[in-house]
Amino acid sequence: MAFEDKIKQLLDLRAQARLGGGQKRIDTQHSKGKLTARERIDLLLDEGSFEEFDMFVTHRCTNFGMEAADKQILTDGVVTGYGTIDGRLVYVFSQDFTVFGGALSETFAKKICKVMDQAMKVGAPVIGLNDSGGARIQEGVNSLAGYAEIFERNILASGVVPQISAIFGPCAGGAVYSPALTDFILMSKENSYMFVTGPKVVKTVTNEDVTESNLGGAHIHSTKSGVAHFVSETEEEGIAMIRKLISYIPSNNLEEAPLVNCTDPIDRLEDSLNSIIPEDPNKPYDVKDVIAAIVDNGEFLEVHENYAKNIVVGFARFDGVSVGIVANQPNFMAGVLDIKSSVKGARFVRFCDAFNIPLVTLVDVPGFLCGTGQEYNGIITNGAKLLFAFGEATVPKVTVTLRKSYGGAHDVMASKQLRADINYAWPTAQVAVMGASGATAILYGSELKKMEDPEAKAKFVAEKEQEYNDKFANPYNAAKYGYIDDVIEPRNTRFRVIRALRSLSTKKESIPMKKHNNIPL
Ligand code: HXC
Repeated sequence: MAFEDKIKQLLDLRAQARLGGGQKRIDTQHSKGKLTARERIDLLLDEGSFEEFDMFVTHRCTNFGMEAADKQILTDGVVTGYGTIDGRLVYVFSQDFTVFGGALSETFAKKICKVMDQAMKVGAPVIGLNDSGGARIQEGVNSLAGYAEIFERNILASGVVPQISAIFGPCAGGAVYSPALTDFILMSKENSYMFVTGPKVVKTVTNEDVTESNLGGAHIHSTKSGVAHFVSETEEEGIAMIRKLISYIPSNNLEEAPLVNCTDPIDRLEDSLNSIIPEDPNKPYDVKDVIAAIVDNGEFLEVHENYAKNIVVGFARFDGVSVGIVANQPNFMAGVLDIKSSVKGARFVRFCDAFNIPLVTLVDVPGFLCGTGQEYNGIITNGAKLLFAFGEATVPKVTVTLRKSYGGAHDVMASKQLRADINYAWPTAQVAVMGASGATAILYGSELKKMEDPEAKAKFVAEKEQEYNDKFANPYNAAKYGYIDDVIEPRNTRFRVIRALRSLSTKKESIPMKKHNNIPL
């Protein structure tokens, strides 16, 4: 073959590979409002940065007529390689639904494993774009083995390089477990769903009638199950969110998140904060207003925005330094800690700790939620997850108590004794075992039982509550013991947090040597 013919052959093969399952199937993909695997990669990576691996891979299956020439499709249904996001290296795989419905074969799995191995060697994030009918039925057990190869790599990479999954189509059966093992899952509102068993099997087994979307659509997983950390209106928006997420996190566990040039004055006073806490301790306010007021340019990338809204978690920056924010939300269930919010908070804290991202915790918590619903479902074990996560975290930890910090929840929310580094409180803080009315009822229960005159009883209760509030409904009792390092003016919070983080930038702290911990799962 002449040299030019060889070049032509290469270019023809490349063109063929780029067509995946063919123009007809690409058109069908578009008609469903979906992008192709390659279009997604083009949007995700910096222009012209994509370097593709394994374009010429085909499957090896000979079952069910798969050996036929027209079934030998170049790339075998997954586009893999590396490129950059804002100049930073990332590895990517993008499942191609136009090739056997993006179903996973032995060689398809090997391609994914190759990028994961490479990412681990060089310390770069792995981003998986999922759109697949699951195990390639014709390949049987080889497909299952392929999944397991990927799972094992997901597990070994956990806490070493960030792993991000986007779901832009079906993701069903055991296939859900690779995304589930990664750090973040994003789902687009249209066309994406995740479930272990689909509606037909559900009907047979449990006799439930449910649609794909009500079983495992983005809405379900971002509000009810918590499986999805992010939800986007469109694929384009989802891909932009992944690029943004990458900007807040380091490339691996030995690096720090990129430092961004800060245009927001570090000593910006925010007067609104001096009056944001309502006079009435039972009145809510939106802790996201506090977050927006103190972080750089008010920018906050919230994680799990619509799930367990009584705790708010997400990424922001102080003086250009990326931080993870954990805040009780008085606006939702009074900011109480329950099972879902504890698990949500714990997972976020552990991600930040694994990847050297300092934690800033804003506390306004009335305690743990009580009742049979919580106890029967294990608030003890699940609440302990958040306690464990904060207690084991060795990244810089700055805590600001805004208002309530009651009971066990006080200890959990990055208290001094959980090795928080700097604990500030606003003058509106109340650090106590419980609120005044609960405490009065318990402390004076026997006296109250004996009192018959309701007026005298009310007067007595009011006096005792006042006495309790005078003693405990302030930050100074905790500050007296050094549990609070300083009581700060709310409007000055941004500056004080930035100074605290600066002082902690060289922090070194370790945990005892062990194979791994045994977090209460
Ligand atoms: C092989 C598959 C396939 C699969 C789809 N295709 N799924 N080929 N293995 N798992 C092929 C179809 O034959 C079709 O080929 C093309 O992909 C598009 O599929 P359609 O059905 O035409 O598309 P659509 O109507 O959009 O439906 C998509 C779908 C459906 C909902 C994903 O295809 C489906 O239900 N597939 C089976 C899903 C499944 O049960 N997978 C196994 C799950 S168990 P042509 O040539 O016509 O274009 C599992 C275990 C993993 O995954 C275990 C890991 C431990």
